[in-house]
Amino acid sequence: MNLEPVQGFSKLSKTDKIAWLVKHYSKDAAKTQAILEQYHHVDTNLQQLHDEFIENTISNYFLPLGVAPNFLINERLYAIPMAIEESSVVAAASKAAKFWLKRGGFRAEVLDTQKVGQVHFLFEGEIEKLQTFFEANKKMLLDSLAPLTKNMKKRGGGILDMQLVDKTAALPHYFQLHLTFETLDAMGANFINSCLEQLAATWRKLVSEEASFAGQSIEIVMSILSNYVPDCVVRASVSCPVEALGDNAELGKAFAEKFVKAIRIAEVEPYRAVTHNKGIMNGVDAVILATGNDFRAIEAGAHAYAAKDGRYTSLTHAKIEGDQFRYWIEMPLALGTVGGLTKLHPLVKEALVLLQEPSAKELMQIVAVAGLAQNFAAVHSLVTSGIQRGHMKMHLMNMLNQMQATADEKLVIAKFFENKTITHAGVVEAIEKLRLGKLEEIS
Ligand code: MEV
Repeated sequence: MNLEPVQGFSKLSKTDKIAWLVKHYSKDAAKTQAILEQYHHVDTNLQQLHDEFIENTISNYFLPLGVAPNFLINERLYAIPMAIEESSVVAAASKAAKFWLKRGGFRAEVLDTQKVGQVHFLFEGEIEKLQTFFEANKKMLLDSLAPLTKNMKKRGGGILDMQLVDKTAALPHYFQLHLTFETLDAMGANFINSCLEQLAATWRKLVSEEASFAGQSIEIVMSILSNYVPDCVVRASVSCPVEALGDNAELGKAFAEKFVKAIRIAEVEPYRAVTHNKGIMNGVDAVILATGNDFRAIEAGAHAYAAKDGRYTSLTHAKIEGDQFRYWIEMPLALGTVGGLTKLHPLVKEALVLLQEPSAKELMQIVAVAGLAQNFAAVHSLVTSGIQRGHMKMHLMNMLNQMQATADEKLVIAKFFENKTITHAGVVEAIEKLRLGKLEEIS
């Protein structure tokens, strides 16, 4: 198909967008249109709300919203909402929550909440002169942002610090204004970016008007928050006597030792660390999505943090200290519980209600615990039964749905595989035999 680029697509009505799209890009226009429309909400106001989250909305994209109950965090019981498609994640989180509920629950603390924003600029004049000029004007520059920062300041947040950073060793003529912010319960992206853009304009004007720079002006390249937030960090942990980890002291000790070895491998081996941290992010992202936060920002920041010492490593750590098993996660989480989707998306609002209206700091703790729990469940399986048993058990329904199994067939097949290893080929064979009335032919 040789298509002309479409003009003015965003201005078309939703109906016209769909009509254009299916006409040009679908092999079965009627079917594609029907499916896109099947996901439109019957409540037109609610649908319009979703339409207006982004440009060119053509339908809604559903993910299951699950809940993992029994999370005891700092002596408070939570049922954690999780939006995710991967079959085993919520089940694994629930299992880990229950396991640690019986062993004292999770502890979590926020270590710091500083966010970062930078004005990146080029300057070809004298560095010392620029530094002196910056120091002399720093207060005035910060004061110039008062109209933007006053509400945040009233609530106890605002700009914490601003530094001129000389980056010319890395890139000729490159400098930054590096700012740190406290944005309280807001994720703060809009606040930070607004401050930075205004600051950049004022800074450029000041320098260009300064006679002693003799016409040497600065070139603002960009002004933007950073999703690398190594000082917006939360720590979540569990601990218990080693012997409490198994059905008896010997099993507990064997499990603890193997578990610690697995964590050590993730600490030293990047190939393993990436998968290990991916498992952590299964839990983290699911809560981030459910609570209307930005999982791409969290992902980027978490992985950068995992590599902060020059080598990519595990976000979780474990050790045996005397007779105690200690296991913890430390990760950056710049989250908000006000602003953004939190007040707009009805399900996000309810997810926050279910979490008992957490502050951003409380949400950081809950999310870190979800990550730690997910990692515990994954590593527990990996060092005991292997991952596939639990995973395939949860994946069985997906396979049966793919094979268009009826409710009765699902019941029979689930029962059939109760004590068997589930594989894709095995399920295909079982459903084929069942449909021929010959299930008993396979054992
Ligand atoms: C799968 O989504 C996540 C795991 O691979 C994590 C891990 O290996 O630790 C099971």
